[in-house]
Amino acid sequence: MPDTCDVVVLLSGTGSNLQALINSVEPENSPVKIRAVISNREDAYGLQRAKDAGIDTHVLDHTAFEGREAFDAALIEVIDTFNPQLVVLAGFMRILSANFVRHYQGRLLNIHPSLLPKYKGLHTHQRALEAGDSEHGCSVHFVTEELDGGPLVVQAVIAIESDDSPHSLAQRVHTQEHLIYPLAVRWFAEGRLSLDEQGALLDGQLLAASGHLIRT
Ligand code: GAR
Repeated sequence: MPDTCDVVVLLSGTGSNLQALINSVEPENSPVKIRAVISNREDAYGLQRAKDAGIDTHVLDHTAFEGREAFDAALIEVIDTFNPQLVVLAGFMRILSANFVRHYQGRLLNIHPSLLPKYKGLHTHQRALEAGDSEHGCSVHFVTEELDGGPLVVQAVIAIESDDSPHSLAQRVHTQEHLIYPLAVRWFAEGRLSLDEQGALLDGQLLAASGHLIRT
């Protein structure tokens, strides 16, 4: 692993996780260098956050392509012009093709607003409430071909209170996302985090199935 880790961030929306990442790498000595932010939506506010931070931006509109494979192939082409060691999905609301995932095997991270393997997909806060769960949270994982299913790196767990709504839960989960994603990216950039055929490794040790657990 070189001294710095070039990162490309993909997003579709607000980009609060991008902002947390930008804020976390501001100290000059951070090994994480965000080289570009790419969005499939030109109206994604995350693009503005990137511009404000002086980061290259690129829009690749998925509706202009005939099918997932064609879009993903074009996306790979754009990403690889930046030669990243790591690709970070930060609210990138696209299902990725097997080719894409394989291309970035071991260097593709995602954040998801639930305690995976619970509640893959959408509406996670609502589903946790409806199930009567006492705990909820968020997960950072390596991306594999299974949607929201790759080896877990870190999870933050929060208690669900009796008066929680999907909105209040979302807010508290977001706060945790903004802590655990920069942490995972930093681990990767420092060469401490990797993926092998057994799963996710931190400092050479296989992580538990839940990843590194943080309870708040
Ligand atoms: C985050 O809550 C992230 O966990 C979720 O999208 C949101 C993006 O927020 N990602 C997924 O649901 C992926 N399956 P942001 O644009 O403010 O970072």
